[in-house]
Amino acid sequence: MRVLVTGGAGYIGSHTTLALLEQGHEVLVVDDLSNSSPESLRRVGELAGREPGFVEANVRDEQALDAAFASFRPEAVIHFAGWKAVGESTQIPLTYYRENLGSTFTLLEAMGRHDCHTIVFSSSATVYGELSEPPFREDAPTGATNPYGRTKHMVEQVLADVSASDPELRVGVLRYFNPIGAHASGRIGEDPKGIPNNLLPFVAQVATGRREKLMVFGDDYPTPDGTGTRDYIHVVDLAAGHLAALDYLGSHDGHHVWNLGTGRPASVLEIVKAYQEASGVAIPYEVVARRPGDVASSFADPSLAEQELGWRAERSIADACADTFRWQSENPNGFAGA
Ligand code: UD1
Repeated sequence: MRVLVTGGAGYIGSHTTLALLEQGHEVLVVDDLSNSSPESLRRVGELAGREPGFVEANVRDEQALDAAFASFRPEAVIHFAGWKAVGESTQIPLTYYRENLGSTFTLLEAMGRHDCHTIVFSSSATVYGELSEPPFREDAPTGATNPYGRTKHMVEQVLADVSASDPELRVGVLRYFNPIGAHASGRIGEDPKGIPNNLLPFVAQVATGRREKLMVFGDDYPTPDGTGTRDYIHVVDLAAGHLAALDYLGSHDGHHVWNLGTGRPASVLEIVKAYQEASGVAIPYEVVARRPGDVASSFADPSLAEQELGWRAERSIADACADTFRWQSENPNGFAGA
């Protein structure tokens, strides 16, 4: 199948592009490289034995997108491109709304003009907010507590409305829990710019000495060890979930929503311990105040994806820590050192 992948040079996009190429699909990546490096795609090409096509453009660039659709004639789209930092989204909300909503509009319109009827969208478990208790099922109430999360929630609603208006359109909304890990080769992985916001990239940089210690945001949550618990899912399992969704949409009409998670919560201290074991390096940490906006616990009920897609997460947190450690030690400066 010919699959156009927006944001395909990024963390989850590059792992999914690799999985698509490995399964024999043709891939065209559209990415403006605002938060990624072309080196990730070069390495994806190396691992797959063939390079994906690449257009350097913002997805909101209608002309560039039209040209890409006209020449590549995609049968499906996977839409990863977007801004994703919660804190930043409260500082520059308009940028988040413009980029994350605008890119989706441009993309859906181009799909309409070019006879492409299948889209898989990168959503987030952040849409469950604090409206109910985990494990979250797809039919739980949704909302969001910050501009980033609201863009995900709004795009979900746009997709549902457009799908209701167009019986030909096939939509798969994937709600990711907490993606971690890297490809087992150590060649591609997460390469955050600046100080990492997310737990595992921060821990990884403490282990290599780039940061002094981890700040644990609160140990007074109502969880087994008092630190926040999350559903950490290996990025290679997550990538496989996209292929399963595309496969399902090949023979099912309509609009579908699936959680991609493991269903097993792990605490901050469990992650620290797992990373110490994988790396053999002690991770100094200090417990500080809770981070505003954090919930005590978030994890999936992943049973719908298992029933409908035949997909489940296979890899453990130990695997993810070992893979992140390999990626981080072999690429201490991410793709920049290449
Ligand atoms: C965060 C976002 C979420 C987004 C996801 C993308 C917030 C509030 N939520 O999820 O909307 O979809 O990233 O991956 O930012 N922690 C520490 N010290 C750190 C970093 C994190 O103790 O330096 C703790 C957090 O309190 C939390 C856990 O580690 O309990 C995971 O945090 P993080 O990796 O930032 O993910 P989320 O907050 O779940």
